Amino acid sequence: MIQPVFQPCSDTVSYAQVEHIAMLRIDNPPVNGLGDTVRAGLYQGVERAQSDSSIKAIVIFGSGKMFSGGADIRQFNTPKANAKPMLRQVIRKITEMTKPVIAAIHGTALGGGLELALGCHYRVATDEAKLGLPEVNLGLLPGGGGTQRLPRLIGVEAAAKMILNASVVKGQRALDLGLIDAVIKGDLIDGAIDFAKGIVAKGEITHPVIDQRHLVRSESTIAAIRGSLNKKARNARAQSAALDCVAYAGQGDIEAGLDYERSRFEELVSGPESKSLRHIFFAEKQALKVDNLPPEVQASDIRSVGIIGAGTMGSGIAMAFANAGFTVTLCELNQAALDRGMAAIHKNYDITAAKGKLTQQDIQKRLDCIKTSTDMEALSGADLVIEAVFEDMAVKKSVFTELDRVCKQGAILASNTSRLDVNEIAAVTRRPQDVIGLHFFSPANVMKLLEVVRGDKTSNEVIATCMSMAQKIGKTPVLVGVCEGFVGNRMLTPYWREAWFLLEEGASPQQIDSALTRFGMAMGPLAMADLAGLDINWATRKRLAPTRRADLRYSKVADRICEAGRFGQKTGAGFYKYEQGSRTPQPDPAVDDIIRACANEAGIARRSISDDEIVERCMLALINEACWILQEGIAQRASDIDVVYVNGYGFPAWRGGPLFYAETIGWGVVLDKIKQLERAQGGHWTVSRDLTSRVN
Ligand code: 3HC
Ligand code: NAI
Repeated sequence: MIQPVFQPCSDTVSYAQVEHIAMLRIDNPPVNGLGDTVRAGLYQGVERAQSDSSIKAIVIFGSGKMFSGGADIRQFNTPKANAKPMLRQVIRKITEMTKPVIAAIHGTALGGGLELALGCHYRVATDEAKLGLPEVNLGLLPGGGGTQRLPRLIGVEAAAKMILNASVVKGQRALDLGLIDAVIKGDLIDGAIDFAKGIVAKGEITHPVIDQRHLVRSESTIAAIRGSLNKKARNARAQSAALDCVAYAGQGDIEAGLDYERSRFEELVSGPESKSLRHIFFAEKQALKVDNLPPEVQASDIRSVGIIGAGTMGSGIAMAFANAGFTVTLCELNQAALDRGMAAIHKNYDITAAKGKLTQQDIQKRLDCIKTSTDMEALSGADLVIEAVFEDMAVKKSVFTELDRVCKQGAILASNTSRLDVNEIAAVTRRPQDVIGLHFFSPANVMKLLEVVRGDKTSNEVIATCMSMAQKIGKTPVLVGVCEGFVGNRMLTPYWREAWFLLEEGASPQQIDSALTRFGMAMGPLAMADLAGLDINWATRKRLAPTRRADLRYSKVADRICEAGRFGQKTGAGFYKYEQGSRTPQPDPAVDDIIRACANEAGIARRSISDDEIVERCMLALINEACWILQEGIAQRASDIDVVYVNGYGFPAWRGGPLFYAETIGWGVVLDKIKQLERAQGGHWTVSRDLTSRVN
C-alpha cells in the first residue's frame, strides 16, 4: 500500500485519503484516550470526509499499541471532560453520515473506545484485539452510549453480563457475539480498506446498532441478573446503575436511553466511590515505579524459583509461581513436611477445580511445575530463592547462611518475613546486594499484594527484577523499606492498639468489628486477628517489650487472651469462640470477663462507646502511622500505602485507602482530631511533620 500522507485534524487526530477512503488516525499516547482534542479531531475529520465528494467511506483506527483505552480518565472532573464535542456528539455525527464509517480495531478497544466503535456503522478487528466496557471497575458505567448500543447489537443478557463483569472478548468471540463484522487476518489497515471497499461496492449502509431486533422484553432477565449482584462489591453502586441503564435500553427509544445513561454516568463520575476507585487505578500503576532508578538498570529474567518451607506461605507462594508457569523447587526439612505442603497444594487446586475454574489438565500442568526436595543443594541453579520458614531470626539466619553457600552467583535471595529485619538477615551472607524481602500475604496464591522490601544494600537490579517478576505472577508490588512490620503490618499495630483500648473503655469485640465492617473493611480488626493467629503478634509484643515506653498506656487484653491459650481460629478461640470446623465468630462471655478485668486493673471506667468513635479512632490510628511511614521514607509515596491497604488488608477500595480517605475528611480535621487524642492519650498520637505539612 502507498503510505498515505496524514494531515492534522487536531493535536491528536490526523486525516489521510487512500483512493476513495478517508483514514482517521487517533494518535494520543499512551492509550489513545478520547480526550477533548481527540473528540474534536474525530468530529472535524468525519465532517471533512462527509463534505468531500471523492470520499466514499471512512476508516477510524488508532496508532501505537491500541485502538483506544477509552475516555481520558485523567480529564474526569475537569472542564476538558465536558468540552464540546462530547463523545455522544461525535457518534451522532457518525450515525448521520451517508457514507459508511468503519472502526478498525487492534490492541484494545475499551470503554469509550469501544463505544466509539459501536457508534460506527461497522467494526473490524484483529483476532488478538480485546474489546470491553470495563467502566464499572472504575465505579462508572459506559457513558458514551455503551449501555444502549451493546444490548441492541448482542442482546440484553449478553450485554448486561459483559458490562457488569467488565469482561473482555477477543476477535473471533466478538465476531461470534455479533459485536464485530469481520476478523482481519494480516495487516489490519489493508484489511479494513478492503472491507470498506466491499461495503461501498454493495452501495448501502446497514446500521445494526439501531436495529431493535435484540430488544425483546427482558424484565425477568434483568431481575435475575440484579438478584445475582454482590451488594458488597467495591463497585456495587456502579453495577446497579449500569444494569438500570441496560434495562432502560429495553424501552426502545435510543435518545431517551442515551439521556438516561448520561444522567446516571454524571451521578457516578462526581460521586466519592468512583473518585476513590480511579485513585486506586492510578495508584496501582504508580506503585510499579521505582523512584530514582538509573535508566540503565535492567530487570533480569527469572526462570527457576526455589522456595524454602512448605507451610502455609511456602505452599501458597509455590502455587503463585506455578500458576504463572514458573518452574519451582519446594524445599523442606523432611519428607513428611513436604508431603503436608504438597497435600495442601493438591487440596487447594481441587477446591478451585470443584468451582469449575480449573480443569484437571490445568491442575496437572501446574503441579508439573513444582518439584520437591529435602536438600538445599537442589536450589543451586535457582535464579530466585524465597525463604518462608518459621518467623525466627536464628532460623532465618541459618537458612541464609546455607543459601549463601549453595546458590549460584547472582541468584536473588529473598525472605518472606512479615516483620524481621531484612538487613540483619542479609548481613549473614557475602552478598547483601542480592538479598531482599518479598512479603507475600496469605493465601499467597490469591492475595494480590506483594511488599517488596528493599534492604540498605539491596541492588537496584534486584529491586527492578523483583518488581517485574511480581507483575508476571499477577501481583501488585509495592516497594517498601525496612522497619518493624514494613508498611502494612506496622500500621496494624496502632490500629489494633486502638481496638484494644476501645474494648477496655466499654466496646465489645462484636461492636468494634461490626462498626468497621459497616465502614467497609472486609473484616473487623478482632476477627482478622483471630484469623491471622494471635500467637504471632504475641511473640512480636514479647520480643519488643524491652523497647516499649513505660509512660504510655498499654492494654493487656490481647496478652491475657493468649495466656488463656486462645490463639484465634486455629485453637477454636480468640477474641471470639468458634464451633468445631466453623470460621464464624461467636461472642464469648469469657472474653468479656478478660476485658472487664483488664479495665478494672487499669482503673478505666467503662462507658457506652459509639460506632462513630470506633471507626474514627481506628482510622486515625492508621492515618497517623501512615504519615510517620512517609516521613521516614519507608514508603515511596502516599498512594503506595493506599495500594497496600486496599490489596492486602481489606480496606474498602471505594474509599480509596487510608490516606485518600483522610483527604476526603480533610487534613485539617484529621490533624485537629489527632491532637485531641494526643491530649487524652499522650505519645501514642505524636504527630509527624509529614502530617502537619499536609494541612498547610
Ligand atoms: N485514561 C487516561 N490514562 C490512562 C487510561 C485512560 N483511559 N488508561 C491507561 N492510562 C494511563 C495509565 O495510567 C498509564 O499511565 P502512566 O504511564 O503515567 O503510568 C498509561 O496510560 C499506560 O497504561 P498501562 O500501563 O495500563 O498500559 P497497558 O498497555 O498495560 O494497558 C490498558 C492499557 C489496557 C488500556 C489499561 O491501561 C487499562 O485497562 N486502562 C483503563 C481502561 C478503562 O477503564 N477504560 C474505560 C475508561 S472510562 C470511559 O471510557 C468512560 C466512557 O464510557 C465515557
Ligand atoms: P509455617 O509454620 O506454616 O511454615 C513454616 C515451614 O517452614 C514449616 O513447614 C517448616 O517445616 C519449614 N521449615 C522450618 N525451618 C526450615 C528449614 N531450615 N528448611 C526448610 N524448611 C524449614 O509458617 P508460615 O505461616 O508459612 O510462615 C512462614 C514465613 O512467612 C514466616 O516468616 C512468616 O512470618 C511469614 N508470613 C506468614 C504469613 C501468614 O499469614 N502465615 C503472612 C506473611 C508472611
